[in-house]
Formats: sequence, C-alpha cells, structure tokens
Amino acid sequence: EKGGYEHFMMKEIMEQPKSVADCLRGRVIAEQSHVKLGGIHHHMEDLMNANRIVIIACGTSWHAGLVAEYIFEEVARIPVEVEYASEFRYRNPIIGKGDVVIAISQSGETADTLAAIEIAQKNGATVLGVCNVVGSSIARVSDEGAYTHAGPEIGVASTKAFTAQLTVLTTMALMVAKEKKMLSDVNLQKLLFELEQVPQKIEETLKLDEEIKVISALYKDATNFLYLGRGYNFPVALEGALKLKEISYIHAEGYPAAEMKHGPIALIDEEMPVVFIATKDSSYDKVVSNIQEVKARKGRVIAIVTKGDVLIPKMVDHVIEVPDVHEILMPMISVVPLQLLSYYIAVMRGCNVDQPRNLAKSVTVE
Ligand code: F6R
Repeated sequence: EKGGYEHFMMKEIMEQPKSVADCLRGRVIAEQSHVKLGGIHHHMEDLMNANRIVIIACGTSWHAGLVAEYIFEEVARIPVEVEYASEFRYRNPIIGKGDVVIAISQSGETADTLAAIEIAQKNGATVLGVCNVVGSSIARVSDEGAYTHAGPEIGVASTKAFTAQLTVLTTMALMVAKEKKMLSDVNLQKLLFELEQVPQKIEETLKLDEEIKVISALYKDATNFLYLGRGYNFPVALEGALKLKEISYIHAEGYPAAEMKHGPIALIDEEMPVVFIATKDSSYDKVVSNIQEVKARKGRVIAIVTKGDVLIPKMVDHVIEVPDVHEILMPMISVVPLQLLSYYIAVMRGCNVDQPRNLAKSVTVE
C-alpha cells in the first residue's frame, strides 16, 4: 500500500510528477493553447468580472492560496485577498455580490473553511471550491469547483495535494487571463508549455533525494530553523517551515526575506540554520543581499538555487540546485526539496512522519 516506501509521506512526495500530470490532463494542451477547467464553466463570467477574489483556506492550503494571489494579480490583474478561514468567519467580513471566493481544501472537510463558505454564500458571493477529496462537504456546497485529482493523501503532512492545488490555481489564473486577453498569445502559450513540463521537472528535482539526505543528517539536531524567500517563493518559505515543524517538532519559522531585518535577524548566530529559497527570478538580487546579511552574522545557509547559479554557491554552506522554470511555476518545484528535507530530518529524529503527534488529517472541529 505504501508502494515500497517506508512511509506514505515519501510515497506521496514521489508521486508528484504523476499527480501534477493527472491534474493537468485534458485541462492544458499547450500545442493548441488550450487551457480550461471544465468545473468552473458556469461561473467563468463571474470570475472574469470579479471586483476581487477572496481566497479562503487553512494551513498548507492557505499557503497555496498565497502563491495564487501573486499569480492571479500578475496574469489576470484581479485584486486578491487571502484569508485564514478561522479569521474570516469570525470578524463580520465585507463580502458580497461581485466577489468570487476560492475555497481551497485537500480534505474538503475543514470546519472553519466550510463555515467561511457559508457566510460568503449567504452574502451573495460566488464560491469556487478547489478540493482533493471527491464528494467532500466543501466540494458539495461550493457553487462550482475543480478537483485537484492528486489521489488519496494519507500522510498527515500535505505534499502532493499542495502541488496539485498550485496546478489547479495556476490553470485557473491562466484561463481567466486568456479570456480577458491579459496575455499575448505567444506569452500564454509559452507559459502553458512550461506548465506541461512541470511534472518532468519535479521528477528531476526528486533525484536530489540522496543529496538532501546528506544535508538532513548534518542538521537533524538543530533546535530552530528559519526559512526565507521573496515573491513567489515567500509562501514556499512558510510551507517549508510548516512541514519541518509538524513532522520533526523542530521549531521553524518562515518569513518573507526582507522582513528578516525587522526582527528575526536577532536570532541569527552560528547555531541557526537558514534555508533560503533563492531561485533566479525577479527578486533574485534582493535575496542575494539577504543571504549576505545572514552570512555576515555567521548563520548557516542552505540555499535552493536554480541550476547553473554560480554566485550563491560561493556564499553559502550548502546548495540544492533545481531546474529552471518560469517564476510563477517555481513554487511547484522549489517546495519539493523542502518536503524531502523535513521528511529526512523527521525520520532521523525517530518521529512518526505519517501521523505526527496532536495532528489529524482533517480538522473537522473549529
Ligand atoms: C499541513 C496540513 C494542514 C492542512 C490544513 C488544511 O501539512 O496538512 O495544515 O493543510 O489542516 O486542510 P485542508 O486542506 O484539508 O482543508
């Protein structure tokens, strides 16, 4: 049942080339510039004319929402807000007709997300669900939606559901951008071709497995970790930190790299491992300066970089090289080494990675 792996989590990490490909099947055909999610057909007009999009989710699904915020704003030019379902539902939110809510949930059963959807619907907003579990409560109550088709996720730490959520949300944003003619035909097609290549690039990234295991052994006894990224990789920093804390019980924090100097920099000394997600994108130069600031304070740096980077490897303690891809798609690649890092560290610490203490796969209580 674990496909020859010791844990479901590893099986699910390794399944990602397939789960992302399954998620794209029939929805994206770059050759024909085809991009379409059948499940949001009837509300396409609402989405195109939305005053704003409000994304509602919890945990890892909320991180996927943060990536989607940047993508929707960039390619479709629609303002997006990303809300924790638990905060949204209890604060008399301003929401109504003209707003489109995208609710993201792997299980489709998260109590706070479900309650937030009800409030949004009662106030006249359209709700689109992005769920993994077919026939789940959130999938049923949403006005329409698109499944992530990642297959059952058994490990409590969400991995393949996250990359599938990013796949659906990116596809949705590109579909709207196409309809609104926000992208040139050439640029749209180029992005679709790159999207089609993501499964293969995840496959390539998974080959870093052994290398990541070696790094994990060096840091397994750390008591703290900091994860830093900017732009599209900022939510990846949050996700990397969440993965580590939930399965290894090491305290970890994710931050937008520029926020470091507003507080967390005080934590940095030779004992502090700092993971930078520093791939070649529009914030690259800024991230390089942030790495310098950490090295100047003797922090130990593990950097996720784009293959072929010659600058960062000279500055840091360890590099993990991932394949190049358009920046909006990078989170689907750059999160993979962080999943593996947390997995190996947790296993080396003797933790139960599939069922970490105090956590449940679906949070059906508020
Ligand atoms: C993290 C994790 C949780 C869930 C969160 C939302 O690995 O699994 O943070 O992401 O409980 O769950 P869903 O997506 O089922 O609504």
